[in-house]
Amino acid sequence: MKFFVDTADIADIKEMADTGLLDGVTTNPSLIAKSGRDFMEVTKEICDLVDGPVSAEVVALDHETMMKEAETLRKIADNVCIKVPLTIDGLKTCKKLTGDGTMVNVTLCFSANQALLAAKAGATFVSPFVGRHDDNGFDGMELIADIRRIYDNYDFGTEILVASIRNPVHVLQSARIGADVATMPPAVIKGLFKHVLTDKGIEGFIADWEKTGQTIPAS
Ligand code: E4P
Repeated sequence: MKFFVDTADIADIKEMADTGLLDGVTTNPSLIAKSGRDFMEVTKEICDLVDGPVSAEVVALDHETMMKEAETLRKIADNVCIKVPLTIDGLKTCKKLTGDGTMVNVTLCFSANQALLAAKAGATFVSPFVGRHDDNGFDGMELIADIRRIYDNYDFGTEILVASIRNPVHVLQSARIGADVATMPPAVIKGLFKHVLTDKGIEGFIADWEKTGQTIPAS
């Protein structure tokens, strides 16, 4: 499963990229607003930091203007992935862009039928929002399992990018289902490394090692 970080914060992205485990980045207009940075500038900086896809979202609601915005965004770097909403205009834009070889992430997906439409429109990624789904009394993971089943039934190449992840359990369940990508806030990625027994184990080993009075010689 690929790991994307869901932020436009450069320091966080650098920290995650340094682990060597980061496969891409997703942003959205809210995350850009939170960063306080210029959209074009910060997107370029992110694209320079990460080799994998960097999702940058259009804000127009009609196909024609979406295409113009996508044209501007895709010039930023080769790894820009245009993010479009799951609407008729968004999917028209998706079909056109992927037909030209541009990566597209179809966002704000909340049903398996919407995911089916995104795949038919040739989306590179579809982003079902599990956290927001759960928040509204639905089962986000059931949605991921349904999409996986449908995509496998028809051999669709669209990657399932689980979004709106709130905790490590969402990541575990996504991996069990076989989702292709999880995009996570930095805190959730950090949480994946954590286990109380790992910390306790390190503490014990280091205490015992110190008793030996030894050091590992440099080669
Ligand atoms: C995905 O691409 C979105 O940016 C994101 O996962 C939305 O998450 P939220 O529901 O926590 O805002």
